[in-house]
Amino acid sequence: LALIGRWRLQGVHLATFADAVGHGPLGVVEDGAVVVDTEGRLESVGPREALEDVGVDAVFDAGGGWLLPGFVDAHTHLVYAGDRSDEHAARWAGASYTDLAHRGGGIRRTVAATRACPDRELREAAVRRARALRADGVTTVEIKSGYGLDVATELRMLRVAGQVGARAGVTVVPTLLAAHAVPDGRSAQDWVDEVVAELLPAVLVEGLARRVDAFVAGIAFNVDTVARLFVAARALGFELTLHAEQLSNDGASAMVARLGGRSADHLEHLDAAGVAAMAEAGTVAVLLPGAFEALREAVRPPVAALRRAGVPMAVATDHNPGTSPFLSMRWMLHLACTQLGLTADEALCGATRCGAVALGVDTGVLAAGRPADLALWDVPTPHALVVAPDAPALRMTWSAGRARQHRAPALRRIG
Ligand code: NIG
Ligand code: FE
Repeated sequence: LALIGRWRLQGVHLATFADAVGHGPLGVVEDGAVVVDTEGRLESVGPREALEDVGVDAVFDAGGGWLLPGFVDAHTHLVYAGDRSDEHAARWAGASYTDLAHRGGGIRRTVAATRACPDRELREAAVRRARALRADGVTTVEIKSGYGLDVATELRMLRVAGQVGARAGVTVVPTLLAAHAVPDGRSAQDWVDEVVAELLPAVLVEGLARRVDAFVAGIAFNVDTVARLFVAARALGFELTLHAEQLSNDGASAMVARLGGRSADHLEHLDAAGVAAMAEAGTVAVLLPGAFEALREAVRPPVAALRRAGVPMAVATDHNPGTSPFLSMRWMLHLACTQLGLTADEALCGATRCGAVALGVDTGVLAAGRPADLALWDVPTPHALVVAPDAPALRMTWSAGRARQHRAPALRRIG
């Protein structure tokens, strides 16, 4: 769709998630309107009557509904081949994630399938998953590598991730997760040395990602090895994020916070020192209730302590074949409340504003100057998105300048 002019959308309530616009934690504007400029950016956001005199080329009325920022899914592994349903079933029959990883299952199994999968198939599967996320309101999605574990396949995964955005109509934020598991036949040290010497510069020169992630765990990498990787990555200008404290407390979150990392993710076993370090550094806690649910975790992330310390909490799907098979942000919000103890307001902020902070992107709020990445929902209140996660409610999304109609009725042009 070519950008033809400036337009206004009204006949909606807004949840802006912006500081200066609207009331309450969601930034609510009842009977609001937005004006979108010719660049696809929000020019004004506010009450309808305040924006009625702004001259535009077209005016649309939604006839009701709630307009929110498109959801930001700040943690996914959307690019992969193969299926691990048998591992989920085995876990539910008593096996543990760690046992399965030691017995030839787990991440390494997806690595074998991904290495063997041609680009086109890898891309088509990832595009289908991204479209499913968009059909539940996502307009920005982070995608990690990490199922290559050799230089060529990690680069290939990032190239495929980069092709998903335009095809699925979402904005993709790619992340290098080369330190996801120790490749077969190598030591952790030796692989991280190669990542630092070969892969980071290759990602930089090809412009494939600006973020680096790793997995600190007994079955993956220790804190010192990852710290070495992260210091090298940071020196090259990469931003940092980390799978931390998922299966045990390793002091990993404090490490990434001290290095200025954007986020620490999972955090079931995060301790008080980790909370304090994250609060001090402004590192976002990305909570992943899908993995918590599918792994039947018993230990919860310390949500009350994070809240008290003022650590921003994001919520993401962590979609991946081994621990979080979900493709619905609304379900993650529901589980964030029922399983992890977030409030409905916190969950919604976690899927918008805080997710964007975790990724360092300017979507996730409705405010002048921000991209018009929008989701129009037919719900009585924003809380209904969290309460009833599979009610058919998404009417339209606008993402990266392109609109998509998900269900009727169409907007009415009134001017
Ligand atoms: O976020 N924790 C490590 N990484 C993924 C799982 C990857 C897998 O099992 O394939 C996660 O849970
Ligand atoms: Fe993950």
